[in-house]
Order: sequence, then C-alpha cells, then structure tokens
Amino acid sequence: MTAPVLNAADPAAIARAAEILRGGGLVAMPTETVYGLAADAANPRAVAGLYAAKGRPRFNPLIAHVGGFDEAARHGQASGLAERLAAAFWPGPLTLVLPARPDCGVCDLARAGLDTVALRAPAHPAAQSLLTAFGGPLVAPSANPSETISPTTAAHVVEGMGEAIDLILDGGPCRVGVESTVVAVRGEGATLLRPGGLSRAEIEAVSGPLADAKPGETGSPGMLRRHYAPNARLRLNASAPEAGEAYLGFGPGAPDGALNLSPEGDLAEAAANLFSCLRRLDSETGAIAVAPVPEAGLGEAINDRLRRAAG
Ligand code: TXA
Ligand code: MG
Repeated sequence: MTAPVLNAADPAAIARAAEILRGGGLVAMPTETVYGLAADAANPRAVAGLYAAKGRPRFNPLIAHVGGFDEAARHGQASGLAERLAAAFWPGPLTLVLPARPDCGVCDLARAGLDTVALRAPAHPAAQSLLTAFGGPLVAPSANPSETISPTTAAHVVEGMGEAIDLILDGGPCRVGVESTVVAVRGEGATLLRPGGLSRAEIEAVSGPLADAKPGETGSPGMLRRHYAPNARLRLNASAPEAGEAYLGFGPGAPDGALNLSPEGDLAEAAANLFSCLRRLDSETGAIAVAPVPEAGLGEAINDRLRRAAG
C-alpha cells in the first residue's frame, strides 16, 4: 500500500506525523534542501527500519535534525566556532558534525558507532513544526532508495519509497534543491566533508578557511561514489549534445528547446532544478549531455552531484 500524502501546512497532518514517529514509524518530511525520511533519533528500532527502507549500508551515519542551536548543544559538544556557524546559518542548509556528548540522544546506530554526531536545524516551516510537535531530534537521510536521485518533491518520494514508509508530508518543491553542506567542527577548526546548499565562501566568511576532507577520510563515509545515480549515461562539461544525447543546459547559450538548469545562469536556481531535471531526462532518454557549470558558489555542490551521477 502506498503511504498517504498529507498537506504539510495542515496542523492535523503534523500531529499525525508526530504520532507515527513516536510509535517508531517513518515519515517523509519536506526540508528546504531535499525531502528527508524521518525517524526517532533515539529509537534504534525505528532507525533500523529506516536503513531497511532505504536499502542503505549500515555504516552510513545519519543527520539528526533539531529545532535550533540549544537543542543541538544537548547532543554535540559545540565550540565557539560551532555556535557562531549555527548563529549565522541556522535554520538552514548547514550540517555540523560535532563530538558527541556522553549523554547524546542520537542512538549509536544512527551515528554508525562514531564518536561524533551530525546536527542540522532545517529551515522549512513544516520540518520545524514537526520537530516541535515531536519534541526531540529526528534523523533523516534523503527520502530516496540508496543510490538513486534525491527527491525534491513529494511526488518523487511517492515514486521511490511510497510503499516502504508510513506517511508523506507534502510541503511543495524544495527551495534549495541540493543537500546541506556538511562541516566537521572540532574546537576552532572546521573541515568541509560535503559541499552543499550553503556555499564554501559563505561559511568561510564566518569560519576562516575550511580544511578539505582527505580522500577516504572516515569524515564523510556517506559519500558513496554512486550516490546520485540516474540510469542514463551522463557526459559532463558538454558544450553541445552529440547524436542520441538529450541536453541539459545552463545559462543563455543553450540550444533552443533543451531543458535548462537556469536560462539566466543563476546557480541557486540551477541547484533547485538539478534533481528534477536529472529525473525527467533519465525517464526520457539513455544518454544525457550536461553543459559546463561554473565551480563558484553553489556550483561546487552542483558539480559534485553531477560527477557522482556520472559515476
Ligand atoms: O540536506 C540534507 O542534508 C538532507 C536533508 C534531509 O536534511 N539529508 C541528507 O542526509 O542528505 P544523508 O543521510 O543523505 O547524508 C548525510 C551526510 C552523509 O554524507 C554522511 O556521511 C554525513 O552526512 N554524516 C552524518 N553523520 C556523520 C558523522 N558523524 N561524521 C561524518 N559525516 C557524517
Ligand atoms: Mg542522500
């Protein structure tokens, strides 16, 4: 049976979702980045059910979603730098990986046994309402089967996971469209683990230069190479399509009639459209050529996802 889809702006839907979560169930919730599949972070059985629903390798730690900094600081050891980053960017598309407190309320399974915990305060009003109604941290990976494209609409969630979960909250299309930027903070040092919906430059304005995660560093165990895999073959940095290829453009130079991430060359618009465009072309064709996207700002996250999708 496919999970019911309820309007996330309806308080009764939020109350129902909180009740399902308290009972150990799984609820897809909108966030400003992508749709998340939420479960009670303190309940290892619920978290095990979540891994099973996603078909996700067990060693992949999850992000715990919280209302704000004070709640985050109950689970992770927040340095002055962590507090400044949260003050600047929460609620929003930034995840902080902090040393876990001894009494951390995010269960070991959700942390994949690590001595750290990933925390994020999402900005979407429905996610905030759900966190308030539930009254504790909710772990939520993107609400898609492992190794498929992340969902940015409720319809994407129905398509990928409708049978495996209990309820879907529809909060409209995601404003940011790519996952949060993940930064590990220890004391006054910060390391970029995953580029995402908040640009490196914005973060560095607060933190100073970010260190880069070394390849294979356990810092980002979730960065499976084929995380964002369409079935179609992807060719990147293509200035024009070749025979048999559909084209995904960026900016004003793209051929007429081609799908375009942002006709005006706006990187925020391109990020918001990225996963929907990939899904659409993937359902229509076996080969996709993608226009070059500048590496600046959100382009770092867009190019990271495109490289992963290209395998
Ligand atoms: O925007 C987002 O971040 C979305 C929405 C739903 O919030 N969530 C999301 O979750 O993308 P997921 O599970 O697909 O990605 C979580 C990322 C992975 O790269 C994982 O390795 C990393 O966070 N992560 C989680 N806990 C960690 C930890 N303790 N240490 C290092 N990396 C961690
Ligand atoms: Mg994901």
